[in-house]
Formats: sequence, structure tokens, C-alpha cells
Amino acid sequence: MCGIIGYVGPRPAAQLLLDGLKRMEYRGYDSAGIAVVNGTGVTIEKAAGKLSQLEELVQGRLPKGTLGIGHTRWATHGAPTSTNAHPHTDLLGRIALIHNGIIENAGAIRTLLEKRGHTFRSETDTEVLAHLVGSLYQGDLEEAVAAALREVDGAYGIAVVSADEPDVLVAARKGSPLIVGVGDGEWFVASDASALLEHTRSVIYLDDGEMVVLNRQGYRVRDLQVRRITKAVNQIEWDLETIERGGYEHFMLKEIFEQPESLANTLRGHLLDEEGTARVTGINLSDDELAGFDRVVITACGTSWHSGLIGEYMLEELARMPVEVEYASEFRYRNPVVDAATLVIGISQSGETADTLAALREAKQRGARTLGLVNVVGSTIAREVQGGTYLHAGPEVGVASTKAFTSQVAALALITLRLARRRSMSILQGRQFIQALRALPDQIQRILDKADEVRQLATLFEGKRNALYLGRGVNFPVALEGALKLKEISYIHAEGYPAAEMKHGPIALIDESMPVVVIAPRDAVHAKIVSNIEEVRARGGRVIAITSDGDGEIARLAEATFTIPETLDLLTPILSVIPLQLFSYYVAVARGCNVDQPRNLAKSVTVE
Ligand code: F6R
Repeated sequence: MCGIIGYVGPRPAAQLLLDGLKRMEYRGYDSAGIAVVNGTGVTIEKAAGKLSQLEELVQGRLPKGTLGIGHTRWATHGAPTSTNAHPHTDLLGRIALIHNGIIENAGAIRTLLEKRGHTFRSETDTEVLAHLVGSLYQGDLEEAVAAALREVDGAYGIAVVSADEPDVLVAARKGSPLIVGVGDGEWFVASDASALLEHTRSVIYLDDGEMVVLNRQGYRVRDLQVRRITKAVNQIEWDLETIERGGYEHFMLKEIFEQPESLANTLRGHLLDEEGTARVTGINLSDDELAGFDRVVITACGTSWHSGLIGEYMLEELARMPVEVEYASEFRYRNPVVDAATLVIGISQSGETADTLAALREAKQRGARTLGLVNVVGSTIAREVQGGTYLHAGPEVGVASTKAFTSQVAALALITLRLARRRSMSILQGRQFIQALRALPDQIQRILDKADEVRQLATLFEGKRNALYLGRGVNFPVALEGALKLKEISYIHAEGYPAAEMKHGPIALIDESMPVVVIAPRDAVHAKIVSNIEEVRARGGRVIAITSDGDGEIARLAEATFTIPETLDLLTPILSVIPLQLFSYYVAVARGCNVDQPRNLAKSVTVE
């Protein structure tokens, strides 16, 4: 995720900004830049790649000045190039701005400004915002920033400086974290406390819709109507390492808890409520072209392959489109039947997985149309496919994939919605689907609020060496994902099975020592899975069930249950997987495993 740092005080700003950015490196980024203001103007330096590249660029010629802003960018609009890196400037190059988040109406503002003669150098929404502030500037940066922010939709944390006001730094937030550091005669802003800690522990937490103006005398907090707000100064108690993980013990847990936000970011800007459909313009296909394919092939590895299986259920059920889901490693060495009438969708968090990349290349070479659902902007898969959509889940640091999975399923739901509306779904069904999608972030939060219950359930796994995960319908891939999560971080052997398939073999494994996790929300196959639970119980198996709120029937049968809110059947995986992620996390922690870096695994598998 992007990082923001800003400084006003007596010390040279440039080195201080670079050091602050270094503290935020752990968040993941792909380019960096700084802007320093002095009496003569604003000097900007930026570079693609690691911070060391920016440091090399400015070595021996650090811009002079004691006020400035710095940014590490994790690309969301446009590739990670130095042109797209922040800071961005306004039309006259007098105002410099850095930004975290996504400005949803940037396209419309850009068009408006272009009509007024503005030209843009980058592909970013941030440059549009810088131009907007510049176009409203009449000698007061605070007023211009407030006026610009009143016109934008979306999420932001920003910091802005102007060559015409060399003593002023303005910052604001909505939906993206920003804190003010109060030092001794010097002031800071940062998106992350880790960037401030070596200078001060006194901070002000800005809330959404608030703006801070820093100058050499101090700071003032305002709302977007420039009305005064009084804020308390807090003391940070955490150490650096804890802060980098946002106070969580592990990145994996942090990323599990980020899902209300990461999922909202995946959906942001794509849903057309009135028309009951999804936009997903990045796929570069008209509705007719999209509906014109004979079939869809989804290819991916690991967790991403599991989300692909869920996509198969959604696309076939709602869009009536034939789908096959292939392990990328198998697809690339078969002689796959794909041609121009096949849409091949590659799913990859990293966008660098060698097997998925090779499978997509093979498909493209055979004339198929390729799409990518990718989290890392500018990654190889994102660059090579003919269209697609970014997940916007934010960087995933924990090796076990969690938030990328729910975002992948959400992205598949968006494509399904668009295709289904063109082929078979009514506008009313489309609206109902959108309503259900919009409810998911809050529903995930309700599950996370009960994380302690999952921690209790995890004790049932003490001393266990094997486990079975069962699900039916669209929750069968969730059973696979739950089993994968458990084995990769806790090293307990776990198998995922379609619940009804159990009687064809795995039932032989069931005895009193075998925990069986059953994903059994109240859906179309509920009665069937109740019978499967009875089969396990009859053999002495210990059932831990994931059920819907208020499901007394399963509660009576299972040894332990965890309930999730109700949603449309096809969207339940986005909810039912959350307790399973938490469950594997707590089991692994109890076993003393290295959760964020499990043995033998790599975050990005760039070899065959
Ligand atoms: C499991 C996991 C892996 C990845 C797989 C594909 O937690 O992280 O199974 O899902 O290696 O990686 P991407 O999605 O980056 O292509």
C-alpha cells in the first residue's frame, strides 16, 4: 500500500523524507518520490523501483529546503513508472501532491479540465487531483485543497505543498489513514506511525473528512468547509515492529482483518446500481463481444485456482456460460482445445506465477482472448493479457493468501454480473446481486468481530495430525481452500472434499480422532449436507460446522458451530472462508508455527 510522509520544521527535509519512506518499505511499493519546497520553488525527484533507486538518483544533490512531502506508490492507476510516481504537480508546476487511495470520479474531472486546456503527463488519478487543486488556487492552499476535495468522490489520504506558500503543508484524509506527528518545533504527517516514531511519539489521528494545515508555528485541523476542529494529542505506546503490522501479531492476521476494506476496494467504482450491472471496463470487451464467446477457461494455481472454481459456479449458474477450470501447470503442457471463441481468464495475486503466465501465453498463442484478474499492478501477467481487472486488495505480505482470495471471488462476481445481465439475468436480479455484494464488507466485519470464538474452536485441533473439510456446491471450493490454508501454515494434513463424495472413500478415515470441518450455510443444498453430517456422526467423527446465523438444526448435530450472516447462495464463499482463514491461523499459532513464512513456501512462485 502507498506510504505518505510530510515534514515542516528547521531540519533539511529531503533526507528525513527518504528515511521516513524507508520505514514504510515493508508495506510494499513499486516507485517513490519526494518534493521539497524552498524560497525558489518546489523540487521534485522520483524513480520507479526500489527506494535505493531514488536515493541513487539524488545522491550528492539532495534538494534543499526544510518543508516537503514523500511517497511510496503501490500502483492502482497506470504502470509503476517514474512518470506515474508521486508527487504530481498542477498545470503550472507550482503545486505538488501525493495521494493514497482511489479518486473515483477522476475520469470525469480529467475530461472537464482537458476542455479547459489542461494536459496530463501521467495516467494517474492523483495528477488529476493536483490539477484540480491548482485550478482552484487563489493564493490560499488550504482553501484550494478544501474546495477540490469537496468535488471528488472516492478514498484519499493526501499531502500538498505549494511553491507560493513555502511555509505551508496541507494534508487530508477520507478512507485512507493519516496521522499528524507533533514534534519539538517540527511537525509531520504520515500514513503510518512507523515513519514518525524516531522523531516523536505524540500524534493526532485524523478522521475522515478532516484536513490539517502545518506551518512553522504549529498545526490546525479543519473540516472541508474550513471549520475548526479540536483534536486530542495521543501518545504511541507500540514499538516499531508492532506498528508495521498495524498492531497485529502477524501479517496474515492483519490481512484477514483488512478484508472489509480490501473487498470494498475491489468493488469500488464497478457497480452500476440503477442498471443492475457491473462496469469492469478494463476487460476491453463490449457486452456483445463478452457474450459472444463459446466458453470460458479459467486457469490459476493454489488459492487462486480455488477462487476460479467458485467463478465456475457463478458463471455457469448466472450467466449460463460453459466454464472449465484448469491448474495452470497442467494446462500449459496439455494440448488444450482453445481458440478465438474461448475466453481464458488467468487469476493471480502476484501476477508473476510462472505456470499461470505460461498457460496464458499458450492460450494467447492459440488465438484465445486472455484476461487477467491480478492484484499487483504492472506485474508480468497484468502487462501481457489483453484485458482484465485489478483486485485493489492492497499488498499481501503473509505467504498464505487471504484477502486476495476474497477479492478474486468478488472480481469474478463482477464479470459474472456483467455477462449474466447481457445473457440471462433480469435488471431486478442484477440489482439484488449488487445489493448483496454491497452488504459483504459489513458482513465480513461481523464475522471478524467474533474472531475469539474461532480461537476457541481451534483448541479442538490440539494434538491432531489429520483433518477433513467438506462442502457442497459453491462451498466445495471453500472446503479445498480451508484445507489448503490449514496444511500450509500448521503442517496438519488436511483434505478438502465435496461432502457427498466422502462416502466413496474418505469415509474410511473417520473415527473419534478425526476433526471434520463442514461448511454448511443455509443454501439450496442444506438438507443434503445435514445428511452428510449425520454420516460423519454415525462413525464417531467430530464435526465443526460453519453454518448460517440461527441454524438450530446443525447446531444440534455438530460438536461446535460458528455462524455467518446470510447472503445469496453464490456469494457465501466470501463469508464462509473467513472463519476458516482465522481457524488455520489460530491452529498454526497454537502449534508455534511461523505463520507469515511457512516452511518451503514462497510468496510468489516464479519458477516451474
Ligand atoms: C496459498 C497460496 C498459493 C498461491 C499460488 C498462486 O495460500 O498463496 O497457493 O495462491 O501460489 O499464486 P498467485 O495468486 O500469486 O498466482
